[in-house]
This record gives sequence, C-alpha cells and structure tokens, in this order.
Amino acid sequence: MIHAQNKNEAYFIELEDRFGAHNYHPIPVVIEKGEGIYLYGINGKTYFDFLSAYSAVNQGHCHPRIIKALIDQASKLTLTSRAFHNNLLGEYEKYICNYFGFEKVLPMNTGVEGGETAIKLARRWAYTVKGVADNQAHILFVEGNFWGRTMAAISSSNDPSSFTGFGPFMPGFSLIPYNNLVALEEAFKANKNIAAFMLEPIQGEAGVVVPDAGYLKGVRDLCSQYNVLMIADEVQTGLCRTGKMLACDHENVKPDILILGKALSGGTMPVSAVLSSNEIMLTIKPGEHGSTYGGNPMAAAVAIESLQVLLDENLADNAENMGVIFRERMNDLMQKSTLVTEVRGKGLLNAIVIAPFGNGKTAYDVCLMLKDNGLLAKQTHGDIIRFAPPLVINAAQINEACDIIEKTILSIGA
Ligand SMILES: Cc1ncc(COP(=O)(O)O)c(C=O)c1O
Repeated sequence: MIHAQNKNEAYFIELEDRFGAHNYHPIPVVIEKGEGIYLYGINGKTYFDFLSAYSAVNQGHCHPRIIKALIDQASKLTLTSRAFHNNLLGEYEKYICNYFGFEKVLPMNTGVEGGETAIKLARRWAYTVKGVADNQAHILFVEGNFWGRTMAAISSSNDPSSFTGFGPFMPGFSLIPYNNLVALEEAFKANKNIAAFMLEPIQGEAGVVVPDAGYLKGVRDLCSQYNVLMIADEVQTGLCRTGKMLACDHENVKPDILILGKALSGGTMPVSAVLSSNEIMLTIKPGEHGSTYGGNPMAAAVAIESLQVLLDENLADNAENMGVIFRERMNDLMQKSTLVTEVRGKGLLNAIVIAPFGNGKTAYDVCLMLKDNGLLAKQTHGDIIRFAPPLVINAAQINEACDIIEKTILSIGA
C-alpha cells in the first residue's frame, strides 16, 4: 500500500514497482541529489558513486560547466529538428571531428542508436564501396558483447537474458570468441561478405573483460588486410574512462567507425555520436537515416562542454593514476580475503570477482552491504562487481572508498 504522507524509501520504491515496468532490479536506494563523486539519498545518507550511471557521469555529477551550458542553451533554443539548420550543430560537428581526428560525425541520442547507425553505415558501405551483393552483407561481433537492447543489439547477443523470448532475430550477424585473433582471421577467410567487425575495446557489461595486449592492434591489422570495417564501440570505454581519451588509444589504433555516447553529455541527457570518414559516411544520403532529436542544439552545447571538461581537468591521466591505486588496494584485499578471486580493469573501469558465500549469496548481496556502508556499486553476471567512479575522484577519496570496500568484504569473513 502506498502511503503518500510518508515519502520514505519504501514509498518511492513501491511507486516504481506498481507503475513502472519491471525491466530493472535496482539496488534499493533512492537518490535525490548528486554532486561530483557523491550521491545523496532521501534518507539523508551520502554515498560514493562507484557506478557513474554506467560510465555516463565521467565528469562528475552536475558538473557546473556542463550544467551551465545546458541551462544557457535550454533558455535560447532546444530543438529545431534537422528540417532546418541551427547555429550550434555545425560548430559541434567541427569540434568533435577535430577532437577525435575524423572527417565526419553523425549525431544520435542513445548509445544503442549509435550502434544501429554504425551497422547501417557498414552495410551501406559494403554494397556501395566493397561490392557485396544485395542483402548479403554480414556483420561480425564477439561473444559477450553488449551494445544495448534494440532488436539488432539483442540479435547479436549470446546472453540468454538479453535475447530469450524476443525472436525472430536480425539476419546477417554472427559471433566469434573475444580476444582471439585466430578466430577473427578464420571468419574473415570464410566469408567474403563481412562488412564490419564490431567490438568493445574492453567489454563492460560482460564484467570488465580486458583483452590481451596487442589484440586491438591485431584486429586493426586484420580488418585492413581483409577490407573489413573496424567498428569500435567506445560508448562505455571512451572519454577517459580507461585512462586514455579512447580505450583504442592504448594501442594507437584508429577504428573506421567510432561510437560514443554516455559521458558525451556528462550524464545530463542522451547524446551519442558516430564518427567516420567521408568515404563511409557519405554512403548515406538525405532521408536514409536520422533522428528527430539527434544533433539538437542543447546536445551540441552540452557535448562540446563535456568534451572540453575532459581535457581541461586532465581526466584521462587522473583515471589512469587513480586506477593504479584502486587495483593495488583490491589486489591487497585479495591477499586478505578468499572472497575476492580476481581483480581486473584499466583506468577507472575495474571489477572484482566474488566467490560464492553464505547460503547462495552473490555479488548482489555484497552490493547491498556496500550500500549500507556508504558506497554504491552494481553487480554484473551474478559474481562480478564493477567499480567505475566519476573520473574527478582524488587519491584521498579513492582510498576512503577502498577502505569501505575492504571493511565490507572482510566483515563477510571468508
Ligand atoms: C558498450 C556499450 N555500448 C552501447 C551501450 C548502449 O547505450 P544506451 O544504453 O545509451 O543505449 C552500452 C550501455 O551500457 C554499452 O555499455
């Protein structure tokens, strides 16, 4: 029963439960404010945010410069649609192309729309440039990939909780193992109609799976050799999260198509972008792809500021340095507790693997305890906890957060 006169956590959680679809299973905490690396609950408690809205809040919650850009633009012009020009889109397009060294950008809203756009571009390029016969273009993905929830995204997923009960699926997709260059070359040799190979440089939702050194470079070389487009989905790994502007930068690799999202707006609104060359981008003509909100003036203003903040605050280097401290502390914890069986990650995209404990307890139970101790994180795949704080965190703060994680794990006593 909902008692509106007593608006405590239970009230808001019950509201969502009663009126919202049950497509998420959130940690039971109700947030009313965010600032920098902190989230504030309606219960009066302050939490370290160690999820950053799945890496959308790299610049920290409610970054003053990003909020100012949002409000300034919101009070002038919010949306024209692409039926007309506006005075911000071109400026933004020039800015982001120069920033990442690409010739063209196609602006969209969510990350998954970025993936859909990249696949449409790759198919169109296959037909008009590579010479693949009509309707034969093939896109190769890796096992464990996650790029969203649309029909195309789940058609390329091998996670049963993503695709079960939603068929029939999109044709022309197949999967090979991640981090396996031999399998990639075999797939390229076996099928001349492969238009693109799409991958995350580090797999986020799969549980922060970091490939071997040299993998991305190997992918780049094989894609070039077999005339296949390399699509890098940097929606989660990009924008300084892993200690470089892009995770591909760790191996000095430039994909043919780059997908960005999430932190492109510093967590304020859905802004995604697909970057590529003239050759690839100009295969799509007016009327063949688009989005009412894609490239809207607010998104343009916010994205420029969000990108500039990453540079001005040196967030790639900070992510790299804080990540070293974090993994050192977690590796140290692994020596003290058999509950932690693995520590992995790059920059501030990290995870620990939790051994089963208690009577069938899982990483979710650890997340509940972390919450009670003042740190919010989310489990993935039952036994993994991802730790991805805003990149503005400093050494004292990351050590304080590590103290909470250590205290929580050690209190379980395994
Ligand atoms: C690597 C990657 N690509 C794409 C997406 C989809 O982004 P969105 O939820 O904004 O559609 C996600 C979301 O978690 C992601 O992690």
